[in-house]
Amino acid sequence: MTVHRIKHQKLVPLILKALVYDERRGACSLGWNVRDAACYVCWAFARAYDPKELEPYVNQLASALVIVALFDRNVSCRKAASAAFQENVGRQGTFPHGIDILTAADYFAVGNLNNCYLTISIYIAGFEEYTKPMIDHLVARKINHWDGAIRELATKALHNLTPQAPDYMASTVLPQLLPMAIGMDMHGRHGAILACAEITHALYKLAAQNDRPVTDFLSSESIEGLKAIHQTLSDRKQYRGFGGELMRPAVCVLIEKLSLSKMPFKDDPVINGWQSLIDDSLNAKQSIQEAAVSALAALCQQYYQVQPGEADTHMQKQLLSRYLSGLKSTEVQMRCGCALALGSLPAFMIRNKLQQVLDGLQEACRVTQKEDGFTEARRDAASALAQVCVTVGVCAQASPDSAVCEGNVSGVYEALLECMNNYTTDSRGDVGSWVRAAAMTGLQDVTLQVAGSAPDLLSPAICQRMMCCLAQQAAEKIDRYRAHAGAVFLRLLHSTEPAVPHIPYQEELLKIFPLGGVESLNWSAPSQAFPHITRLLRLPVYRYHTLLGLAVSVGGLTESTVRYSSHSLFEHLKSIQQDEAEMQQFGDTLLHIFRDNLHNDRVSVPVMKMMDQMLANGCFEIFVHQDSHPFCVELLSLCKEEIKKSKDTKKLRSCISVKTTAAQVYEMLLTYDDVVDAAVLDDVMTVLSDSNWESELSVVRTYRNQLCDWLGVPRPTLVTKSPV
Ligand SMILES: *[C@@H]1O[C@H](CO)[C@@H](O)[C@H](O)[C@H]1NC(C)=O
Ligand SMILES: *[C@@H]1O[C@H](CO)[C@@H](O)[C@H](O)[C@H]1NC(C)=O
Ligand SMILES: *[C@@H]1O[C@H](CO)[C@@H](O)[C@H](O)[C@H]1NC(C)=O
Ligand SMILES: *[C@@H]1O[C@H](CO)[C@@H](O)[C@H](O)[C@H]1NC(C)=O
Repeated sequence: MTVHRIKHQKLVPLILKALVYDERRGACSLGWNVRDAACYVCWAFARAYDPKELEPYVNQLASALVIVALFDRNVSCRKAASAAFQENVGRQGTFPHGIDILTAADYFAVGNLNNCYLTISIYIAGFEEYTKPMIDHLVARKINHWDGAIRELATKALHNLTPQAPDYMASTVLPQLLPMAIGMDMHGRHGAILACAEITHALYKLAAQNDRPVTDFLSSESIEGLKAIHQTLSDRKQYRGFGGELMRPAVCVLIEKLSLSKMPFKDDPVINGWQSLIDDSLNAKQSIQEAAVSALAALCQQYYQVQPGEADTHMQKQLLSRYLSGLKSTEVQMRCGCALALGSLPAFMIRNKLQQVLDGLQEACRVTQKEDGFTEARRDAASALAQVCVTVGVCAQASPDSAVCEGNVSGVYEALLECMNNYTTDSRGDVGSWVRAAAMTGLQDVTLQVAGSAPDLLSPAICQRMMCCLAQQAAEKIDRYRAHAGAVFLRLLHSTEPAVPHIPYQEELLKIFPLGGVESLNWSAPSQAFPHITRLLRLPVYRYHTLLGLAVSVGGLTESTVRYSSHSLFEHLKSIQQDEAEMQQFGDTLLHIFRDNLHNDRVSVPVMKMMDQMLANGCFEIFVHQDSHPFCVELLSLCKEEIKKSKDTKKLRSCISVKTTAAQVYEMLLTYDDVVDAAVLDDVMTVLSDSNWESELSVVRTYRNQLCDWLGVPRPTLVTKSPV
C-alpha cells in the first residue's frame, strides 16, 4: 500500500508521460521498458485506489491507455496497456465505454499493428471522450516518429479518423500540420506532408457526399499553405540527398491526393512545379517512381483535361515527347520511369498519339542492342504496353490513333510473346523472369480486353501461341513464376465474360482443370502442379512446350521440384509405354526440343539429365528392343554434337563424365555398334566402363580426350581470352 501514500496529483501526470516515452538512440529504441512499466503501474492503480480517488483522472488515464494499446510500436506494450485497461474496467468500472472498448481492443486484437491503426481506432474514436486525444496523440507523437512505417500508418489513421471530427481536422489539425510540413525536423516534415495529403483527401470525400467542394472545409490560409509546400522545399533544396529520398515520394503523394481532391489550382504555376518534381522523380529508385507515376495519373486527370475526354494539347505534346524519348535513354532507371509514366496516362492523354506510344513501347520491349542490362526497362515497357491497350480500348474499326485497331493487335502480341522468351541471367539471378512475369500479366489483361470488345481480332494462331507459352511457363522450375503462369492460364481458360476464343483443346483442358474444381490447386507446390501440367503432354498442340518447361524442372537442381516433376513425367510415360505411336511422338518431340536447343545450356544440359533419368528408368525399352531405332541413333548424334562444340568443362562433366550416363552410352553402343567404327569400339567400351568418371577433372579430361580421338570428335580446348 505504499502507492497509496504517494500523492496521486504528482504520480498521475508522471505516469501519463511515461506511457508515451519513446526515443531512439543510434540503432536502439529506448523507452519500451518505461512504457511497459507505466502500463503495469496503471494496472496496479486499479487495485490500489478507490474509484473516488481516481475519478478526476479517469478520462486522462483511459485515453492514455487506449492510445498505448492501439498506437504503441511494440506489441508487448500494446498488450500490457490492453491488460491494464481491462483491469481498470473490471475493478473501477469508471472508464468511459469500458466494456465496448475492451471487446474491440482486447489482448489478442491489439497484436496486429495495421488492424490497430486502421480499423480498431475508427471504432474507438467513435466515442467522443477518446476522439480528440487520439488525433492529438497521432499528430504530436506519431507522424514524426523515428520509424517510417509508424509515420505512414499514423497518416493513414488520420485519414480514417477524419469523418469522426472533420471540423477539428480542418480548423485545428491542418493549421498545426502546415508549419511542420515545411519545418526543420525531417521526420516531422515527412509525416506532416503525408498527413496533410490524407486529411485533405478525406475532407474532399466528405464534402463530395453533399456535392460540395473540399474548399468548403478549408480556410484560404490552409489552401495557400498546401500550395506552398512544394515550392518551399524546392527553394530550400530539400529534395536533394538523403532527405530528398523521403521528401520526393511524400510530395508525390501530396500531389496525388490534392489532385484527387480537385483543389482549385488549374492554371496556377504550382502545377508546373509539381510536374517538374514528378518528371525529376521518374529517374529514381522504384518506390519513388511508383509514387511519381500515381501522382502523374491524378494530375493529368484533374488539370490537363480541357473538356471531358479532351487533353490540353500543349501539355500532351510536351509530356509524350519527353517520355517517349526517355524510353531510349542510356540510363535504365530513366527508361523504366518513362515506361511507367506512359502506362499510367489517362486515355485522353494518349488518344490522337496512340501510334507513337505503341511504337515506342513495342520498341522498348524488344532487344535492340547486343548490350546487357535494360532488363527492368523491358519489364516495365511490357507492363506499360498492356496498360495502354487496356486504357484506350480495342476496336476493330477504330481510327488507328484513337484505339487499338485490327492492324495493331498482332504487333502488341508479338512484343509481349517475345518477352516470354527471355531467360537472361546476371549476378542477380534469372532476371529474365521479371520480363516474363510482366509479359504474362500483360497478355492476360490485353486478351481479356480484346476478347471483351473485339474478339474477332484474336486469331487462332495468336491464341495457340499464347496458351502454349503459358503452358511452358506453368511447367517450369521457379515456384513463383510457375504459379503466376498457372494462374494466368486458368484465368484465360475459365473466363466466360468475356470468353476467350480459339483456346486449343479447351474441352480437354476443362477436364484437367474443371471450372469450380481447381480453385484450391496450389501451383507453387511442385507436388500439386506437376501432376496436372504433365497431363497436357497428351494434347499434341501443347506437347512440345509443356515438355520444354518440364525438362528444365526435371533436369533442374531443386530437390522437390526434380522429384515431383520427374515422378509425374514417369507416370505419364508409364501410361503410354505400350502405345508405340504415342511413344514415337513423345520421342520425336524430345529430339525436336534437343535439336532446337543444341548448345543452349539452359535447356540442353537439363534435357541430357532428363534423358539420362529416362534411360536409367527404362522408359525407352520399346525403342531399344528394335535394332538401330532412329530415336537412339539420333539421340546419340545429338549428344555428340552437343559435346563437340562445348568448351565448358562443367557441361562436359554433366554430359559424359557422370558414370551413369557413360553406362547408358555403353549400352547404346552395344546395341548400335554401327555408329562407331568397329576398330575402336572395344577400346571405347573399355574406357567407358572401366574408368572412374568421378575422379579429378584433370584425370577425367584424359579419358575424355582419348574418347574424342577415337570417336573422331575434336578435343575441346580451353580458350584463353585475349585481353581487350
Ligand atoms: C518490445 O518489448 C519487449 C518487452 O516488452 C522487448 O523484449 C522487445 O525487444 C521490444 N521490441 C522492440 C522492437 O522494441
Ligand atoms: C533478354 O533480355 C536481355 C536484356 O534485357 C537481352 O540482353 C537478351 O538478349 C534477351 N534474350 C532474349 C533471348 O531475348
Ligand atoms: C496500327 O494499325 C495501323 C492501321 O492498320 C497501321 O497503319 C499502323 O502501322 C499500326 N501501328 C502499329 C504500331 O502497329
Ligand atoms: C502453396 O505451396 C507453397 C510451396 O509448397 C507453400 O509455401 C504455400 O504455403 C502454399 N500455399 C497455400 C495457400 O497452401
